[in-house]
Amino acid sequence: MDKNPLYKTNIIGAGEVGSAISVDMDKDSVYKTNSSYWDIKGNDFLGAIVLPLYGSFVSEEKCQLFGDVSGKKLLEIGCGNGQSLQYHGERNASELWAVDISEKQIEKAAQHLKSCGLSAEFICAPMEEECGLPADYFDYVYSIYAIGWTTDLEGTFRRIASYLKKNGVFIFSWSHPIHKCVAVENDMLVFKKCYFDESWYSVALDENVLMLSDRKLSTYVNALSKAGFVIEQMIEESDEEMIGSRNKHSDFAQKAKMLPVTFVIKARKL
Ligand SMILES: C[S@@+](CC[C@H](N)C(=O)[O-])C[C@H]1O[C@@H](n2cnc3c(N)ncnc32)[C@H](O)[C@@H]1O
Repeated sequence: MDKNPLYKTNIIGAGEVGSAISVDMDKDSVYKTNSSYWDIKGNDFLGAIVLPLYGSFVSEEKCQLFGDVSGKKLLEIGCGNGQSLQYHGERNASELWAVDISEKQIEKAAQHLKSCGLSAEFICAPMEEECGLPADYFDYVYSIYAIGWTTDLEGTFRRIASYLKKNGVFIFSWSHPIHKCVAVENDMLVFKKCYFDESWYSVALDENVLMLSDRKLSTYVNALSKAGFVIEQMIEESDEEMIGSRNKHSDFAQKAKMLPVTFVIKARKL
């Protein structure tokens, strides 16, 4: 476990990545640092984070959380390169909207959709801020590996609730917080970080810096409840077939057999 208060563990996949440093959270520097990371790196480093994948080892094809989206209005929070929008466009959603903090990601997403004969309304803004989205408008709001970047989880969930119609559905995925505490070392799973520690850190990934914090599961659950959502389903199982199709002897696959690496929540606005 960390002894130096300045040093923090950051785990991606099976092991520790980059050298993470504790920081005081300042919204503007988080926006600046993270939008610049996504402008430069896009989704390249982090991998399996577009629908039908919710993240490593969890897929919409198995979980079927959305059901039939044809004729429905959908908003994606943190749309990245637009492939998840494409997934819903091809399933005949009537309207696609998206918010992302990175201008470059939005440019990529718009181009990608155009090349697929689809389109969406794009807004470049932090998800935490007022950005002109309509209230009581959407049937679904969803987010694939983007919600955790918010600097204000409760405020973001309150905004998302305001965009949804009554009984509208909110689905999001993120790294499971237990996965962010445990690394594989010498064929053993080792607790490297305190589960309760939600403080912010900055980390260099592939020579570019990101700022984030790892929140407890209860922080997500309680923030949903405060924003007026009821949780209908939560997924934290790693799919055996998906583990097998990767390299089932890899450290990451071994880890995924023992603990959840991705979680997905489906909630409904009351
Ligand atoms: C891992 S990617 C999501 C990938 C996306 N699911 C896809 O289908 O391509 C995370 C995205 O969240 C965006 N993001 C990060 N912080 C954000 C914030 N505060 N508000 C809105 N978007 C943010 C990034 O620019 C990035 O495009």
